[in-house]
Amino acid sequence: VLCWFYVFPVYRLPSDKEIVEEVLRQGEDWQKNQTGIDLYRKLLSECCDPKRMFAVTKENSPVGKVLWYDGEFYYSHTVNNNTYSLFVQENPLQLPLKKCAVVGNGGILRHSKCGRDIDQADFVMRCNLPPISKEYAEDVGTKTHLVTANPSIIEKRFQSLLWSRKDFVDSMKVYGSSYIYMPAFSMRPGTDPSLRAYYTLADSSSNLTMLFANPEFLRTVGKFWKSHGVHARRLSTGLFLVSLALGLCEEVTTYGFWPFSVDLDQRPVSHHYYDNILPYKWFHAMPEEFVQLWHLHKSGTLRVRVGRCA
Ligand code: CDP
Repeated sequence: VLCWFYVFPVYRLPSDKEIVEEVLRQGEDWQKNQTGIDLYRKLLSECCDPKRMFAVTKENSPVGKVLWYDGEFYYSHTVNNNTYSLFVQENPLQLPLKKCAVVGNGGILRHSKCGRDIDQADFVMRCNLPPISKEYAEDVGTKTHLVTANPSIIEKRFQSLLWSRKDFVDSMKVYGSSYIYMPAFSMRPGTDPSLRAYYTLADSSSNLTMLFANPEFLRTVGKFWKSHGVHARRLSTGLFLVSLALGLCEEVTTYGFWPFSVDLDQRPVSHHYYDNILPYKWFHAMPEEFVQLWHLHKSGTLRVRVGRCA
């Protein structure tokens, strides 16, 4: 039987309504498929070597190494003594990670009561320094092991750290002793704010560890999904994390991935669980990405949670 996710990407993306219907048809059924998990881990290690390459490390980026920015045309940084000193020695994660939860920021998380499920994972990944205060804990949990931070957040929310840095240091406390994963070498204007974020945390003797995303890893992951039919100018942060998780974890569950305007009861849903600010339409292709995630869900390779957890 040809399913819509095989047919539609060629002609058109299914409408929000069609996706809701398809997700409802599948219901809460999910069966883990070890062959699928092993296959994706193999494919991802062949294309992108996440274990060795996901972060910039002293091991993969010695002094003199040229880091080509993945979000710029022909622009690079050559590792020097200063930048080298900021890199971790090697991949610091204790591998393999067992159960991983990748938490997107979709409004579908609101009232989901998925917090407890998320906190039960061995490794929790979140996107873009999201709010996880008491108000949201029941729905999104409280634990974090890795959180991404886009340099644009440092610019907008923390005035590029050129003024007070206390606000930034205080805001980071909710993430405990997790890894902050920053694409410092992706876009030219992002490098300085990322380095300032590093120094700010180092100077405040914070428990967080800064990891710079390796632009080579981001580029190869982008190519991998392009060959699977995701035609975005740039992948969303969430799909980068899912790819990382598929490469490093024994089991992956996603929460908060739902880039559609209505929920499973056809009620309007906000873009984020904490606001309704929409992304630039032309930049990401989140619905296309969801189709891929759903494909992996149906094949038992990862589990996509979109309904309520309790
Ligand atoms: O910066 P970006 O637009 O990539 O991310 P975000 O809005 O902070 O959300 C984090 C991630 O959650 C996104 O990268 C998407 O993968 C996912 N997301 C989703 O699937 N559906 C939504 N309505 C919002 C976010």
